[in-house]
Amino acid sequence: MALILAQEPSLLPANLNLERQERLTWDTTEAGGDWNLTVNDQIHIEVSAVLALLEADHKSIIGLLARALGLLNQGDAATAVPLVQAFVVALDRHVAFEDGELAAIHGVAETVSDQSSAILLREHREISQQLTHVKRLLAQNRPDAAQLAVHCRLLSETLTKHHSGEEHNMFPQWEAALMERDEVARIGLLQRAKKALAME
Ligand SMILES: [Fe+2]
Ligand SMILES: [Fe+2]
Repeated sequence: MALILAQEPSLLPANLNLERQERLTWDTTEAGGDWNLTVNDQIHIEVSAVLALLEADHKSIIGLLARALGLLNQGDAATAVPLVQAFVVALDRHVAFEDGELAAIHGVAETVSDQSSAILLREHREISQQLTHVKRLLAQNRPDAAQLAVHCRLLSETLTKHHSGEEHNMFPQWEAALMERDEVARIGLLQRAKKALAME
């Protein structure tokens, strides 16, 4: 939260901080006779960090797949295969984290959240099914570039839609639900997210 104030504002965040159990940090700077006050809530920082990790992981997963697809389209299966393998590991890890840690948590609007969670789990099952075809091809001695490209392209379309829907529909619900959790649960989740969504 950022505010521009006419007077030196140190009492304002100090009072707010008492209400928020000493979890606020703030910066004040003076500019042209006004005071700029920026207040950060530690709870919001932790919750935002989990969602930022998920969003960065979406980009990283799609990036791996795009690089692999580029090579497969050129018929270069040998160079593409390690990238596809890394993509499979990253996607399995991502879906397992969301299913295990986030799918079951309930947002403020419980009925809407239940519906969204059901859609999320269904889409995850579809993604896992599509991924099975890629895993089957990777298990072959010399995977066929054209076949691998077909399944990777399909996954690319599915994932692009899924990530967009998740970021628009699920992220706000997860955020609301996580803000309600106690400090130990939030910090534990953030630590597990950092471990589970380790960047390549
Ligand atoms: Fe997902
Ligand atoms: Fe996701």
